[in-house]
Amino acid sequence: MKKFILNLICAFGSVAAIGQHSIIPAPVNYQSTEGMFMLDNQTSLDVKTGNPEVKKYAGQFAALLENSGIKIQQKAVANPSQSEKVIVVNLNAKPVAELGNEGYTLEVGDTKIELMANAPGGIFNGFQTIRQLLPAQFESKDYPMGIGMVMGCKIKDYPRFGWRGLMFDVSRHFFSVEDVKAYIDKMAQYKFNVFHWHLTDDEGWRVEIKSLPKLTEVGAWRVERYGRFGDTRPSPKEGEKTTYGGFYTQDQIKDVVKYAADRNITIVPEVDIPGHSMAVLAAYPELSTLKKPTTVNPGSKFAEWYGDGKFEMLIENTLNPADEKVYQFVDKVMTELAALFPGQYIHMGGDECYHGYWERDATVQDFMKKNKIKDTHELQSYFVKRVEKIVSSKGKKLIGWDEILEGGLAPGAAVMSWRGMKGGIEAAKMGVPVVMSPTTYAYIDYTQGDKSVENPIYAELSLRKAYEFEPVPADVDPKYILGGQANLWTEVIPNLQFAYYMTYPRAFATIESVWSPASVKNWESFVNRVESQFSRFDAAKTNISKAVLEPVVSVRKDAEGKIWVKLQSEIANGEIYYSIDNTYPVNYAKKYESEFWVPEGNLSLRTQTFRNGQPTGRELIIPFADLTKRAK
Ligand code: ACM
Repeated sequence: MKKFILNLICAFGSVAAIGQHSIIPAPVNYQSTEGMFMLDNQTSLDVKTGNPEVKKYAGQFAALLENSGIKIQQKAVANPSQSEKVIVVNLNAKPVAELGNEGYTLEVGDTKIELMANAPGGIFNGFQTIRQLLPAQFESKDYPMGIGMVMGCKIKDYPRFGWRGLMFDVSRHFFSVEDVKAYIDKMAQYKFNVFHWHLTDDEGWRVEIKSLPKLTEVGAWRVERYGRFGDTRPSPKEGEKTTYGGFYTQDQIKDVVKYAADRNITIVPEVDIPGHSMAVLAAYPELSTLKKPTTVNPGSKFAEWYGDGKFEMLIENTLNPADEKVYQFVDKVMTELAALFPGQYIHMGGDECYHGYWERDATVQDFMKKNKIKDTHELQSYFVKRVEKIVSSKGKKLIGWDEILEGGLAPGAAVMSWRGMKGGIEAAKMGVPVVMSPTTYAYIDYTQGDKSVENPIYAELSLRKAYEFEPVPADVDPKYILGGQANLWTEVIPNLQFAYYMTYPRAFATIESVWSPASVKNWESFVNRVESQFSRFDAAKTNISKAVLEPVVSVRKDAEGKIWVKLQSEIANGEIYYSIDNTYPVNYAKKYESEFWVPEGNLSLRTQTFRNGQPTGRELIIPFADLTKRAK
């Protein structure tokens, strides 16, 4: 029997080792126990509560199993045995305080799995854990397993924060309803519960607003361009047709809202104002100061960037805060958004708002004088306060990027801290609720592997750095931290598979930082668990970055101008090999022991990580000229 079991473990390859687990995010408490549960056609699902949401989640689980060739029967089993096993699901008669609304307990024995929670959200999360305890092949639609082993365990689990978000930008590139649902599916699997939907920006307005039809007739469409964003993409030509884009009808939005709610996810819609509004102004130029006809930007050059967040907009993309028509526009948008999205928050953006057009406009200046507004920061604050009043008049709460703090925050608003943690710290110290999503740890549009093998973008964020995310800074009262989220901007992400690649595994680092207690986080364990998720993504035919399996290259120049290279492996037992003379393959070339000098010349460094003689990731090829550029 023992041999049979070991063979099964090898064949199924689902659990790294008995006594360990590969669950992401790591549960609060996991204990391995003797035995295992063989999930097969002799298994029943016994939902003991009549709660319709719990029944729905149980139905989703049954459907997942059916994909894998297991037709689970929904019925009670009085005396579970090897020939009649059961998964029992129920709500606690007396709520267990520490579990809250999203926690659960799970016990896996030989003949019975028991999943308990205080509320349906906990049951949903518990099912996601069972899913991760099943072999990776359960993620594949092509090879129904018909049987799945779950190792014996006892789990108690609940989230650290109530806001566990992912932001998805559908403006810079348009993603279909099917894409958005698929993105939501994946995040639900890993216990995210907020989908921040960045619906508008300079590159497209994506939500139907019936009282403002031109927003989608005009604002949802641009000329088709790819390549470096805001840099070398050609501007629209005179008379060129706007063929790229799309938007979601209100029926589609309602469908996605329900789809998300069915997966324990609340959607926070964002319309980014008063900046980032070129698509609005293409539709309604009268809402700007210049009132000049313009186009939806395809990602061609629109600004000069001066570093340290300073920039100048070459094309106007700001609403005119001195014009009453703008507030009528905001009112119409918020009225329809509030009716579409049942969640409590609406995100108004508020970031990177260029003030130059306001400073140069006589009517704006008169307005400021009349209203005793001393500078354009205060003017932006005036705008935010007006928007907050509109949003709260629709029964919603306002949240915005940390720029909404400038010039004084609207009472009742919450802040999303993106320019590092400092905006969040400042807000929390004022008693304002904060979501932490700093560039430092949570910008998953940045490159994650070596520049030589990644799509070029202006900044980097490794998985290791993302894993250092701690949402509650020292000296901040944790009660003001709602949670955290990672943000996927899509300037250079034109399709869903690349969106997955950029999101995962760094979103694992985010979710573990906002779900698991800080004391449970552990980098070595995390990397092992990330690796076992790779096979789940492979089975599901979805991309995930494996850059963590590749060497980390650091370069320095010494006093004589010589280039020195250090190579590091992020994985245990990773051995790095390299050559500096263009020879390949690098396996069995030089094994990396310590920092080495690279002689000048028109050659490349080649390097790759191996484990047990097998390459673990891509080979990096970095020409000498690039090494020189990287040297500090
Ligand atoms: C932002 O990244 N501009 C919020």
